[in-house]
This record gives sequence, C-alpha cells and structure tokens, in this order.
Amino acid sequence: MATIRFEKVVKDFGAPEPAVKDFSMEIPDQEFLVVVGPSGCGKSTILRMLAGLETPTNGNILIDDQIVNFLSPKQRDIAMVFQSYALYPHKNVRDNLSFPLMVSKVPKEEIRSRVLETAEIMGISELLDRKPKELSGGQRQRVALGRAIIRKPRVFLMDEPLSNLDAKLRVKMRAELKKLQRRLKITTLYVTHDQVEAMTMGDRIVIVDNGVLQQVGSPHDIFYNPVNKFVAGFIGSPPMNFNNVKLVEQQGKIWLSFFAMKLPVPERLEKAILSVKDEGLIMGIRPQSLIFEPTELPTDYIIPAEITVAQPRGTEVDTEFKIGEAYFMAVFPPEQDYEPGMQFKVGFDPKSIYLFHKETGKTLY
Ligand SMILES: Nc1ncnc2c1ncn2[C@@H]1O[C@H](COP(=O)(O)OP(=O)(O)O)[C@@H](O)[C@H]1O
Ligand SMILES: [Mg+2]
Repeated sequence: MATIRFEKVVKDFGAPEPAVKDFSMEIPDQEFLVVVGPSGCGKSTILRMLAGLETPTNGNILIDDQIVNFLSPKQRDIAMVFQSYALYPHKNVRDNLSFPLMVSKVPKEEIRSRVLETAEIMGISELLDRKPKELSGGQRQRVALGRAIIRKPRVFLMDEPLSNLDAKLRVKMRAELKKLQRRLKITTLYVTHDQVEAMTMGDRIVIVDNGVLQQVGSPHDIFYNPVNKFVAGFIGSPPMNFNNVKLVEQQGKIWLSFFAMKLPVPERLEKAILSVKDEGLIMGIRPQSLIFEPTELPTDYIIPAEITVAQPRGTEVDTEFKIGEAYFMAVFPPEQDYEPGMQFKVGFDPKSIYLFHKETGKTLY
C-alpha cells in the first residue's frame, strides 16, 4: 500500500530557475504513473526527491500521509531502477538478486525461495548461475528489475529503464513491465522522455515542461483534451500541425484565415473566440485528422492541396502536402500512391481543429 502526494514541491539547485517548481499531485495506491517531458525538464529530480536522493527546497512529499522529506532512502522502502543497471559484475545472477535481502538480514531459507520466485516472475530462472557479462542487454535489465522487486518495496521508481535496449526489445519490455506492475500491484512512477512509451504504459501520464506540471490525465484525455499547445505538440506522432491564424468576418461567419486560405471556426469554438482580442491564435490539427479526398465533410472544410513527400509506414502513409505556402503533415491510408506534385483535396475535420492563445499557449474551449 502506498499513496504518494507531492505538495508544492520546489527543487532549487541555485541555477537562475528552480529545476522543479510548485509540483503538486497525488498518486493513488497501485497506480502506474508515467512522468514525461523533454530532456532537462526535471523528471529525474522529481523521482530522486521521492526516493530520498535529493531533498526538496520547499514543499512536502508524503507517502501514506507521512511526510518523508527528511527520511533516508532506506526508511522509505522504495526501489529504483535506472537506465544503467549497475549489477555487480563479479556476482552471478543468484547473488545479484539475493544481495538486497542479505543486506536486510533476511533469513537464508527465505532468501532462497524469494530468489526462485523472483527469477520465475522475471523469466530468468535458467540464468541464475551466469555472470552479468554472459547476459544480453535485455536479460541484464530483467535481473536489475528482479533485484528491485525482490524486496517487495512499497513504491517502485524507474528512470528511463528501457533507453539502452534496442527498439524491438524495448517494445516487448514495455508490455512485460506493465503486466508485471499489474501483477505486483506496487505503486509505480516511471520516467521517460518518449511520448509513445508514456502513452502505451501509463494508467495516467503527467507532462512536465521546464520544471512545471502541465497536465495530468489518462492517455486518452491527454491526447484528445490537451490543456495547452505544449502538451498538444508533445503527445502524438507525427506531431500536431500548428499554424498562426487570424480571425476574419465574411459572409456573416467568422473564419480562421492563414496565407490565402480560410476555414470556418468550428461550431463548438464559436463562443470561445468571442473573448479573443487582437493577439492572434494558433490553429492545431493532428496529422490523423486531415482527410484525403473526403466525402462527408461540409465543403468549407475541404481545400485543394499538393503532395510534397510521402513516407509509407505499411499500414499508413505519413504524407506532407502544401496549401499555398503552408505545409502540413498528414497520415493517409495506404491504398493509394501519393506522388510528389499530385493535386488532391484535403479535408480538415472540424471536430479535431484546436485553437490556442498565441501568447499563453492555452487551449480555447
Ligand atoms: N545535482 C544537481 N545539481 C545541479 N543541477 C542539477 C542537478 N541535478 C539536476 N540538475 C539540473 O536540474 C534540471 C533538471 O534535471 P533532471 O531532473 O535531470 O531533468 P530530466 O530528468 O527531465 O532530464 C536540469 O537543468 C539539470 O541540469
Ligand atoms: Mg533524467
């Protein structure tokens, strides 16, 4: 059992700006929370403060309603796995696994059975007599994870644990880690800079930029209801398309105008734009919401365009096109050749057009 709470946590290393600013959130028992954001945004610092490897400059961290700010890492009963899995090179897998239990003076018989149980869970039972150098990267990472879970900690912290693995193994380990966490029911914080990893693994995701929490939510919520342009652009692949747009009134309607083209303001945003002054807006649309030769959209949302480059990915084709001088990335179906220079009609699905304030980046609702 472990519920975790961050209350206005600040970490200031003495740089012009704190590494973590007023970070507040609650992580319920047994949740798999992914902390995601660009390199240097403060992810590891957040994890290290929870582990007890850094002390917050301000604010409180609580585990099960107990403030742990000044508890040593040992007193917190937390296990942490890093990108570089420091196994003892001269010990075999069995001894690497037993080490944390020997340190805690667990009886020999119990150590034996827990090593076997953990090896079974991690699928490394056949490797117990091998040294780390006789293992593949994936096997080593399993041993490192096994060494962390063998203690049955209250909280599990992982800091980019899969970054050193090749792409194929990474995808496999993602699924395995998720299953493992479900089975062990240990509250887990998982740090990554990879938004795909965040989307596929987290019960919830917290997005951090520049030390500031941007949004917490389910993968679905974060993808479809981003609170600002940063979140909208960070999550999703290929990234959302952004264009500066102006509001113009014509034919009794308000339009989003950019370069030589215009689109009607989607109905659901008609109220929101009334509060917009002259500061301008940014329109966002995901590549998946641009439709090749649409048949079911209102004609105002359909515009002639020209293909500039196509990158097939098997089940879909990442396709760049231009409308005048405005370039867009789209994901189109594969049953068609998209030759550069080809003229076609593209549809902007109004349900999936986002608008952001230019100054603040905040989403208009
Ligand atoms: N021990 C430290 N001393 C000084 N600055 C640090 C220390 N640890 C991290 N930082 C700084 O804090 C910021 C956040 O770092 P970090 O949490 O490692 O980011 P991330 O894990 O998201 O890449 C960075 O600017 C980094 O240089
Ligand atoms: Mg880091």
